[in-house]
Amino acid sequence: MSSGHIIEARGLVKKFEGGLIPALQGADLLVDPGEFVAIVGPSGCGKSTLLHIIAALDRPDEGSVVVNGHELSRERHLDHVRGHDVGLIFQMHNLLPTLSASENVQVPMFEIKLGARARRARADELLELVGLKGKARQRPTQLSGGERQRVANARALANEAPILLADEPTGSLDSKSGEHVLSLLERLRTERGLTIVMVTHAMEIAARADRIVRMLDGRVVGDERLREAPAVRTAASVW
Ligand SMILES: Nc1ncnc2c1ncn2[C@@H]1O[C@H](COP(=O)(O)OP(=O)(O)OP(=O)(O)O)[C@@H](O)[C@H]1O
Ligand SMILES: [Mg+2]
Repeated sequence: MSSGHIIEARGLVKKFEGGLIPALQGADLLVDPGEFVAIVGPSGCGKSTLLHIIAALDRPDEGSVVVNGHELSRERHLDHVRGHDVGLIFQMHNLLPTLSASENVQVPMFEIKLGARARRARADELLELVGLKGKARQRPTQLSGGERQRVANARALANEAPILLADEPTGSLDSKSGEHVLSLLERLRTERGLTIVMVTHAMEIAARADRIVRMLDGRVVGDERLREAPAVRTAASVW
């Protein structure tokens, strides 16, 4: 610990199917607080697996991960890390089909102490933030793919966690909605010091990050800095 990194993943190995599929083969990722990092690489190279391990949803076979000061292999309360330290935008949305948009956004809030009225109000704010005002009561099947994506984005922001892990957050959005999401992320980073790790296939989106990390065959094979992370402003709040 005490490296100053908010994410410190070293030597991660993860195999699936009894070892037949080596999804990660010694992946390293260090991220500073307030940084915006894009991860790129071909399909199947381990990007989602890496995010899931950092999000404390899966454990590596080897290697160590420290997230916001928690060494995950030693952490007994991974649900606390999931509830307070990271927000995750899943590649496949993973919305609960029987819940409305608003209720889906409220799911992570059950990890923090908030009354029902406050939860609904915050969900409304977040849905407005992602451009879905008026859709709070719709269920996922009553929303378009892009709208579901935006509900998933709002849900990942629900707990105001310091780290946002985003797996293709603009993947199913048209360019205007994608731009809306990206500028929201940039704002949250600049104004709140949110640390963002975003997987994307689109180079023009990756180019908006401070740093582009390239993965191949379960390893990080490239790390290109595009710009310094801006100094964090604390006055304004976008939550
Ligand atoms: N739960 C699982 N069980 C078995 N194999 C898995 C599992 N999750 C991932 N894999 C395999 O591990 C490898 C890495 O998968 P991962 O989802 O991390 O790739 P990715 O880089 O996110 O790809 P994409 O760009 O297509 O989303 C792939 O070969 C995938 O088939
Ligand atoms: Mg993936």
